[in-house]
Amino acid sequence: MENQRGQWSSKFGFIMAGAGSAIGLGNVWRYPYIAGENGGGAFVVVYIMVVLLMGLPYMIAELALGRATQRNPVGAIITIKPGSHWKWVGVLGVITGLGILSFYSVIAGWTLGYIYKTGVGTGLNFQEFVANPLQSILLFAAFMLITALIVYGGIENGIERWNKILMPLLFLILLGLIIYTFTLPGAMKGVRFYLYPDFSKITGKTVLAALGQAFFSLSLGMGLMITYGSYLSKKDNMVVSAMSISLLDTLAAFMAGLIIFPALFSMGENPAMGPALVFIILPKLFMQMPGGTIVGPFFFILLAIAALTSTISLLEVPVAYLVDEKKMNRKKIVWLAAFITFILGIPSALSQGASPLFTNLRMLPAYLSSADFLSQMSFLFGDFSLVIGGLLLSIFVGWVWKANHAADEIQQGSPVFIKLKKLWIFMIKYFLPVVILIILLNLFGIFN
Ligand code: TRP
Repeated sequence: MENQRGQWSSKFGFIMAGAGSAIGLGNVWRYPYIAGENGGGAFVVVYIMVVLLMGLPYMIAELALGRATQRNPVGAIITIKPGSHWKWVGVLGVITGLGILSFYSVIAGWTLGYIYKTGVGTGLNFQEFVANPLQSILLFAAFMLITALIVYGGIENGIERWNKILMPLLFLILLGLIIYTFTLPGAMKGVRFYLYPDFSKITGKTVLAALGQAFFSLSLGMGLMITYGSYLSKKDNMVVSAMSISLLDTLAAFMAGLIIFPALFSMGENPAMGPALVFIILPKLFMQMPGGTIVGPFFFILLAIAALTSTISLLEVPVAYLVDEKKMNRKKIVWLAAFITFILGIPSALSQGASPLFTNLRMLPAYLSSADFLSQMSFLFGDFSLVIGGLLLSIFVGWVWKANHAADEIQQGSPVFIKLKKLWIFMIKYFLPVVILIILLNLFGIFN
């Protein structure tokens, strides 16, 4: 049974796959602009605390649920609590995977286009670029196709194999780009903005932004870590793996900041310019710098690789669900799930100026998101659903499965956990649900 589902072949392979899922557009594209909008250094401090206090204990809980049941998010919950409504939390996770994948791959498609555009150094008007309907859809389709081809290969020969190649490559490119931007004139002003915390800038909004970013960046809240955990064996040390994945993810985001802020400040640009940061300011910079037509493509290759190892993981969640629960053929499902995602993503691909309808289709109130379809998908699935999922899954592990049972599972393969057990149980049963709930209420303006 287990061999049919597949398993990671090595600890290193699993850590690379987990880090590959976690490290993505969230680190290189989203994290720098969120940090820029939320006060630079002050955000970095809050972010690291949120990762340690909330992200890490929660990630261990998801992994434990997956390994204990050897199932996808829906199957895992059904195995622990048969015949209950809790299974809808798993269903929400599967749907969220498809939802994120649909808009995420559209942005990932842009990175493919920008590898070429920064290489030839022309056609770098972002507004025009994303408003071209055929081009957006073709790049999006290309990215879905590459993702599907890798997931098609299965756990060990597809996902694990590619992550083991792509992740080390990604860190190499990150390092090379840091060395480049540090040599730019005025770079140190950016390093100072990024690393010198001004604590007066920390507000409730900073903490909320940090939590949303941490869940998205660590791939938490929708059962991805349940799914990846289900391919672990009882010998695996989940505590060390979760620590390694969180560390690598935070390191990658931190390094991306060390590329982007020096670059911005050396050009005298404003760091708080939102999602366009990476697609507008950086290419402009590359075009002014010596060697820019080489560095530019490398930066967007980096972004594409980061995105690819994440889209793989997002597609794997619905695939695992259908393989386990509907007993369908893995290879057929991969194409089916990729096709559904493609259809679901077309409105997002057309929402950046190509179609007036999807560019201005307000479904959510203005204080939550801008009016284009992609931004609203991103808020619904990339922020809101992950935080709700995180809340419900912490309650499920802490109170329904029971934190003690989960702790016994974690203990297997990681003897040191005994020292952290009490703390972990407190975090999962009380700290996480309460803090997430407060943050959610705050989001809807309950405290204003
Ligand atoms: N973590 C990825 C990023 O930072 C995005 C992602 C991939 C994700 N898989 C996920 C987010 C699962 C939440 C859940 O880009």
